[in-house]
Amino acid sequence: MDTEKEPAVVCQEIYREFQDGSRIIKVLRGTNLTVYKGEFVAIVGASGSGKTTLLNLIGGLDKPTSGTIIVDGIDITELDDDKMSEIRRHKIGILFQDQHLLPIFTAIENVQVPMLLDEVRAEERHKKGMELLAAVGVENRANHMPHELSGGMRSRVALARALANDPAVLLCDEPTGDLDHKTGGEIIRLMRDLAKEQNRAVITVTHDPETAKMADRILLLRDGKLVDELIGEFFRASGVDIDSKGGTEPDNQDAMTTG
Ligand SMILES: Nc1ncnc2c1ncn2[C@@H]1O[C@H](COP(=O)(O)OP(=O)(O)OP(=O)(O)O)[C@@H](O)[C@H]1O
Ligand SMILES: [Mg+2]
Repeated sequence: MDTEKEPAVVCQEIYREFQDGSRIIKVLRGTNLTVYKGEFVAIVGASGSGKTTLLNLIGGLDKPTSGTIIVDGIDITELDDDKMSEIRRHKIGILFQDQHLLPIFTAIENVQVPMLLDEVRAEERHKKGMELLAAVGVENRANHMPHELSGGMRSRVALARALANDPAVLLCDEPTGDLDHKTGGEIIRLMRDLAKEQNRAVITVTHDPETAKMADRILLLRDGKLVDELIGEFFRASGVDIDSKGGTEPDNQDAMTTG
């Protein structure tokens, strides 16, 4: 056993209900989850099963009806809005599919946005922004506007931006949904490698079995709970054969190219 494993996220008995007119929708019903630093976890589940709801709760964008969420040692369920935004700025990176780059800013300026809120000095911001762009392989596009970049490059810049505040946890909701398989696979591989190198936890929601297969663990959100069984069945229902264990990388890049 690795005794140095440190949890980045702990969700204990999370319930989240929504009021829909006179009806109550019980989305999360006793969800438990622990993700360690350096770990890359994929969450799959049917549309409407509550995946985005769960990510929003972990990211502090929403509060659970009951239950406790601890991010990097801090119980975020008790925090007021000000304290929550501070934690979000310092501990949480978010990469959502529809989270676009700001169109009037260059790549390097976009990456610096999270640092602006923290009043990091200009030179330091620039230096760190360039390092992040280099880490995701687009430093030669630093001064390009988003519309001058390919979809894959924009995703890389968005990933660099999500990492700009050194988050303990990176939350991704279908981060590669817009990309072709090969490019998407490269981004996921990059995310996983950065998580390992920088000891961050990465939680990604995905519908894509190739993405899920690259994770250390795959969890299925079903009936309001996360389970680590029935993954194979879940994917087989959509016509894909997958080893339910996860963590099995495709043998080569070509495995990602079919669309
Ligand atoms: N703010 C809200 N108010 C009312 N109902 C909501 C709210 N947010 C989510 N829901 C409901 O909760 C359920 C889960 O939604 P959620 O977006 O988490 O699903 P999902 O698993 O992310 O689905 P998808 O794969 O389609 O993105 C849905 O029935 C949705 O309508
Ligand atoms: Mg969703």
